[in-house]
Amino acid sequence: MLFIVLFLLLIPVSVIAYFYYQIFEKHKDRKRIAFDEEYEKIRAQNYPPAFPNGWFNLCSSDMVEKGKVIEVEAFGQKLAVFRGEDGKVGVVDVYCPHLNANLADGKVVGNNLVCPFHAWEFGKDGKCKHVPYSDKVPNASTACWIVKENWGLILVWYHAQKALPTWDTEGYLTEMSDFKYHGKTTDILRIHLQDFAENGADHAHFAYVHNLMTIPFVEHIIDVKHTLEIVFLEGKEKHMAYFTDIASLVWKKSQKEIPRAGGHAKVTYFGPGFLVFQFTTEIGNVLLIKTFTPLGPLKLRMDDYVYAPKGTFKLAIKYLLREASAQFHDDIAIWEKKNYAERPVLVKGDGPIMKMRAWYSQFYGENEGVKDSAIVEESLLSTAENNN
Ligand code: FES
Ligand SMILES: [Fe+2]
Repeated sequence: MLFIVLFLLLIPVSVIAYFYYQIFEKHKDRKRIAFDEEYEKIRAQNYPPAFPNGWFNLCSSDMVEKGKVIEVEAFGQKLAVFRGEDGKVGVVDVYCPHLNANLADGKVVGNNLVCPFHAWEFGKDGKCKHVPYSDKVPNASTACWIVKENWGLILVWYHAQKALPTWDTEGYLTEMSDFKYHGKTTDILRIHLQDFAENGADHAHFAYVHNLMTIPFVEHIIDVKHTLEIVFLEGKEKHMAYFTDIASLVWKKSQKEIPRAGGHAKVTYFGPGFLVFQFTTEIGNVLLIKTFTPLGPLKLRMDDYVYAPKGTFKLAIKYLLREASAQFHDDIAIWEKKNYAERPVLVKGDGPIMKMRAWYSQFYGENEGVKDSAIVEESLLSTAENNN
């Protein structure tokens, strides 16, 4: 009798364990491919510049405590990020102008950064403030970066021609006070930032790449249908764009919608460096601040900072993140092996890819290889519009 009871119990436990493994564990890590560094250099030549202009995340605020300095890699160089006793963050190029020691190996004294080699002191403006063995302070400095701290992130302004910021990061996501932080994930991707942005405008790939859910067997009875829209803002907020995806679940056979089963994703792009992804479903909502820090040509760091409204079930958060990352991993598998189609052949149903490129071109300098795209855009857009 006991044996039968145990056996009967084992069935649901095994089923739950199977589904848990399939949904949460089996494809947790995306497929990694080996990269030929030499070929990557050739692939990168076809793409627009590796570092578009904008605000970029260097690291989380909590990674730089008061009186501490860390080294961060970004934009093909190394930066020293330090926090003075006044609580404010300074970011400077890592090499000391004296004899090029690494300032990130130094220490913070007061609000200055002290070089580990001969103890020259530098302020947050990058200028030398003190030399311990000389009465005179030399006119020496290391480049300093424009810094902001928002949403628990240390952001710097990158501009290829060193122009000042054209937009601000403040005033957004004020509703975050109702959200709880649930940690972050980090990944290194071999992609160009622009390919990510084009994702929202490339409507045709959704039906092929994002048509499955992570729940086993479901694909045999349910289809995912995407209704997509992208809006490019203008004027003072022209650095922003909104992308929305209403993902409905329909029965495969009848194509009838399953009520209250889908999800609604809203992505707000803030320039090329970061976006906010809000995923709203019947089982809960999650909000990701997704940041991209370009490290070099076709190489960037992606950080996902996870938030959910207070009181959201942990398993619901876990499942929604799993669905979101599974979709994203499918994209990455393509982006990491693709090239840049400067003159794509577009047809009806492709989505506003060239409008996205035109919007994105504001993040490059005038002579940075986007003119060809603009010419192609006009001819192809008119063709696509005629087809519509
Ligand atoms: S190298 Fe920095 S003080 Fe000499
Ligand atoms: Fe995609």
